[in-house]
Formats: sequence, structure tokens, C-alpha cells
Amino acid sequence: MIPHPIHETLFDEDTIHKRILELVGEMKDDLRDRDLIMIGILRGSFMFLADLCRELYREQIHPSIDFITLESYYGGTESSGEVRIAKDASVNVEGAHLLLIDDILDTGRTLDTAEKYFFNKGAEQIKTCVLLDKPERRVVPFEADYVGFTIENRFVIGYGLDYDSRFRELPYIAVVQEEN
Ligand code: IMP
Ligand code: MG
Repeated sequence: MIPHPIHETLFDEDTIHKRILELVGEMKDDLRDRDLIMIGILRGSFMFLADLCRELYREQIHPSIDFITLESYYGGTESSGEVRIAKDASVNVEGAHLLLIDDILDTGRTLDTAEKYFFNKGAEQIKTCVLLDKPERRVVPFEADYVGFTIENRFVIGYGLDYDSRFRELPYIAVVQEEN
């Protein structure tokens, strides 16, 4: 059995759910009546996208949904600084309105790379949505259109976010305690 690191809840399930409802309130008028494609950046976005798209459905917003796998983290909590496409999306984005979803906006490299990539592929408009934002960590200037929670520079796990590929399944977001 793999022990979980010592961690402290930052946002519980109820808090995340309430914030998603508010986010949908912020974005629904921008997204309605469009041929919308939601693209989740794997792997961190899977849980957030799943919850978000079900709330969009309740607002009569019916996107097509696809995923792209981008990798920048090679274990632990350190980024290599380089983002590569490990698995491309298969949808044709030419002339489309995209909603890019990621779990967290950290250095900004992932979303910046993804946005440039899809504009290059002919997307007409791109909106970006992240559940978490750590503005202190930004290396590439990037602001998401919709942000769930702005947080301090702490390493978080759960609700899709991993530590060495684990703990993505936690239904809440927690801060990992540094070991002394
Ligand atoms: P960026 O390219 O530095 O903005 O990083 C985005 C990616 O880094 C996210 O999609 C996450 O996979 C990962 N990441 C950044 N901060 C954290 C964290 O606190 N916990 C887990 N993953 C993180
Ligand atoms: Mg990720």
C-alpha cells in the first residue's frame, strides 16, 4: 500500500463544485451559440473537464470534447522547462471556437504552447480556463480567461493534479506538506 504524503485540504468537494457553478455563470454567455470544442490538456484536466462539461450541459451548451497530452513535468515537483506534445488531439480545429481546459496555470508554458499550437492549426477563437492559478510562478506571461482559484506558490495534489503520477483521484485539492 502506497502511503499518501501528509497533506492538508485546500478546497473540498463542495467548494470546488460551487466555484464551478460560478465559472459556468461567467463563461456561458461567451460560449453559447457557438460551434464549441472543449479541449482538455491531459492528464491534469480530466476531472475538472468532466465536472465542467456537465454543468455547461445544464446551460444548454453542448461542445464537442477532445484531449491533447502535453508534458512538461518529468517527475517530482520540478519542470523541465520544455513542453512537448505526447499525444495530439484528433479534432479539426480550423475556424473553430475552442475552450482550453487545464488543471493549473503555473509557469504558463503549457497553456501558452497549447494556445499557439491551436491558433497555428487554424482555430478562430481560443478561451482558456483553469481551476487553479499560481501567478507568482509565471515564467511566460499568460492570463487565463476563466480562473477557479488563485493560490500561493504551494504544491497541490488531487482533483486531477498529481505528485509523481499519483493522487490524481482525490476528490478534493490539498497542499502537500514539505518534509523536513
Ligand atoms: P505550466 O506549464 O508550468 O503552467 O504548468 C502546468 C502544468 O504543471 C499543470 O498542467 C500541472 O500538470 C503541472 N503543475 C503545476 N503546478 C502543479 C502543482 O502544484 N501540483 C501538481 N501539478 C502541477
Ligand atoms: Mg498537467
